[in-house]
Amino acid sequence: MKNVVLIGFMGTGKTSTGRILAQRLGRSFVDIDKKIAEEAKQSIAAIFQKEGEAFFRAMEKAMVERVAKGRALVIATGGGTVKDHENVKALKKNSLIICLSASLDAILFRTAYTGERPLLNNKDESERRQAIKKLLNERRALYNVADYFIDTSELSPLQAANDIIKYLKKHR
Ligand code: S3P
Repeated sequence: MKNVVLIGFMGTGKTSTGRILAQRLGRSFVDIDKKIAEEAKQSIAAIFQKEGEAFFRAMEKAMVERVAKGRALVIATGGGTVKDHENVKALKKNSLIICLSASLDAILFRTAYTGERPLLNNKDESERRQAIKKLLNERRALYNVADYFIDTSELSPLQAANDIIKYLKKHR
């Protein structure tokens, strides 16, 4: 059975939707960032700060390669996982890829209250808006690798999960 992989920008709901989706499908849920943090015994923000982004990306790549070999999982990726085309290739082998998107305002709102996103930390609202805009522009095309797309701006994670379940029923 194919994995279901959630890709998309920070704050689009990959982790919260993925967790609900896995529960409803009776599948195991794997959050790539959570697994990296567990393995490194430190938060993603701490890894970025102490070791740098390149080190994090190498850990992310190794984790994607391992997790992609699983079967029937629901997998939440990080917002930048698709930057490496080998990650995409590994995930595409045995997965349906669902892309979650959201408006700039929704992303800004959802990423406001966390120190857990190193690419957006230590910025005031206007700086965060600029940083999100820039990253969205750089990455937009990379998220196009998905099989199905959902705009979660107006959806709860439960609604997004239900939408994905409908899609999966039609595309089994
Ligand atoms: C990143 C997104 C984060 C995390 C890391 C880098 C990115 O994941 O992997 O901070 O490059 O967009 P979320 O999308 O779950 O916030």
